Amino acid sequence: MATRVGINGFGRIGRLVTRVALTYKDVEIVAVNDITDAPTLAHLFKYDSIHGIWKGTVQAQDSSIVVDGRTIIVPLAWFPRLWHGTPQERSHFEVFGGGAYLHWPDLDEDLTVAGLLAGRPSGETPRSLEKWLVSRKAKQRPPPDRRPQSNRALQAAKRRPRLNA
Ligand SMILES: NC(=O)c1ccc[n+]([C@@H]2O[C@H](COP(=O)([O-])OP(=O)(O)OC[C@H]3O[C@@H](n4cnc5c(N)ncnc54)[C@H](O)[C@@H]3O)[C@@H](O)[C@H]2O)c1
Repeated sequence: MATRVGINGFGRIGRLVTRVALTYKDVEIVAVNDITDAPTLAHLFKYDSIHGIWKGTVQAQDSSIVVDGRTIIVPLAWFPRLWHGTPQERSHFEVFGGGAYLHWPDLDEDLTVAGLLAGRPSGETPRSLEKWLVSRKAKQRPPPDRRPQSNRALQAAKRRPRLNA
């Protein structure tokens, strides 16, 4: 039975290990996790300025990369709230049940390790995600600019006598 491997951080080392592992029949790279999407990871894997262009085929799908017919999943795409979260929001998580459940309070996202291993993506509907994205955008909007709008207004504000307390 092949040794199944997951790689966290698909940078120089992660990609090189994958290149080598793909030459072994008894090693299976099951999943790679990084902070970007499958098409970008596939591109970086194929075009490597140090190790050269991968001679086989590399295809990107929504949540996986297929190298020479071997599928490597990119699970980040399964959890859209994590995908849209900032690095700070993603790094703020809580672990429950002795490591069986993870919860991201800032993103209101949960996952179970069993679900992840079984390949179960988030059950959130596209409609619910859209609502969350809209409310998130509204919260992130910067407060209205209260500075004088024009240089003239600024000069006038400076000329205004100050009241001493
Ligand atoms: N390259 C070396 O010779 C070398 C030697 C000793 C130790 N290391 C260490 O090994 C690790 C990897 O090295 P590398 O050269 O591949 O680095 P790299 O910068 O090429 O790759 C790191 C990858 O991790 C990803 N990443 C960052 N934060 C992440 C997160 N929260 N979740 C998932 N992915 C994330 C980045 O996007 C990047 O693709 C580093 O910690 C490095 O310090 C590297």
